[in-house]
Amino acid sequence: MSASARIIRGRVLSFRDDPAIAGAAALSAIEDGAVLVSAGMIEAVGEARDILGRAPEGAIVDDHTGSLVMAGLIDAHVHYSQTQVIGSYGAQLLDWLQNYTFVEEQKFADPAHCARVADFFLDELFRSGTTTAMVYCTVHPQSVDAFFAAAEARNARMIAGKVMMDRDAPEALMDTAESGYDESRALIERWSGRGRLDYAITPRFAVTSTKAQLEAAGALAREFPRCYVQTHANENKAEIARVAELHPDAKSYIDVYARAGLTGPRAVFGHCIHLHDSEIAELVATQSIAAFCPTSNLFLGSGLFDEARLSRSGVRIALATDVGGGTSYSMLHTAAEGYKVLQLNHQSWPALHAFYRMTLGNARALSLDDRIGSIEVGKEADLVVLDPQATPALAHRMETAGGDLEVELFALMMMGDDRAVRQTYVAGEPRKT
Ligand code: GUN
Ligand code: ZN
Repeated sequence: MSASARIIRGRVLSFRDDPAIAGAAALSAIEDGAVLVSAGMIEAVGEARDILGRAPEGAIVDDHTGSLVMAGLIDAHVHYSQTQVIGSYGAQLLDWLQNYTFVEEQKFADPAHCARVADFFLDELFRSGTTTAMVYCTVHPQSVDAFFAAAEARNARMIAGKVMMDRDAPEALMDTAESGYDESRALIERWSGRGRLDYAITPRFAVTSTKAQLEAAGALAREFPRCYVQTHANENKAEIARVAELHPDAKSYIDVYARAGLTGPRAVFGHCIHLHDSEIAELVATQSIAAFCPTSNLFLGSGLFDEARLSRSGVRIALATDVGGGTSYSMLHTAAEGYKVLQLNHQSWPALHAFYRMTLGNARALSLDDRIGSIEVGKEADLVVLDPQATPALAHRMETAGGDLEVELFALMMMGDDRAVRQTYVAGEPRKT
């Protein structure tokens, strides 16, 4: 055992399965538990007395007694280029892109700006308890290099890709079908599968990509089956009308992507709010993933994600912040807003479902559940420690939780944010600054 061994003690909670299927048995809970990590991996998990009793010599003990030790949170759709767009006033999607986002993203031509923002973004994710994210960079290849370099320096498991846009955007933010393909290909060759990094082929959406560019992205997806695909779909009514104008041959918005070969089990479609039945059928048939981005959907006035309809139909769902259309880096806050969105449609989302989504559920959606998403021997040691008493308001609320874990988790999700994150471990190293 190496000297880098560390024991993380607390109330160890981990999902084995989806609580929507397995009920309360989906969650394993060890009240006075501990996790032994070494060389970035989980080596043992169990009762604290057992783990401490056979602690390797020199192991560091981080005592978080009373706090919850969970798998690190996973964000399935977020833009690192929008850390200075977040909270921009008064526009819906298409105007918001033109007036704020496309202005800000031009700054990523400068590698020094990319590096500074990538550092800030990753540290902010860790402060919020997020250890893995699927990330949009900008059209500039240097924005991808900077992001992956920053992730590699922190030994973090991250997925990211270069935005492809060859239409309806400022000149300085456009590539072409050909250059978008060539630059993405070079980035894939440089980063895909390197350490804990994976590449996502990233045509921004069917408004800013021509059919030729979408087909080039589809060709990359065929050539590099390990790569993910990420894009936006069916977010906003004006956007959907524009896609119909620009792609008159396609039967629907999702069909634009299907025709280009961009649907599939590694394809994540942000938003998916206004879907026709035929589009749901296409997502199900191809095992594509719909990313629910509640704070963004509310902030941009895009609409209410119909979780029950999609789940009932068998669509794979992920949960995501979508910063900077989204207004919080915190997956706890995102889940709380998700709960409120469901309430508006008379749907519900018990705490166990929400915590499953933030951890094992999102790991499954990203086909990473063999590595992350739960606390099991042999998995990567990405962990978050949540303090249910972190703020006076939380501590006061917990007085009436009556020792009921689900009550406690629900209140934590509704009231918690980065302040509830006591520590975040990335590959076994504490990273909350
Ligand atoms: N659709 C195309 N680009 C974007 C983006 O950056 N954010 C959101 N929310 N939707 C988009
Ligand atoms: Zn987005």
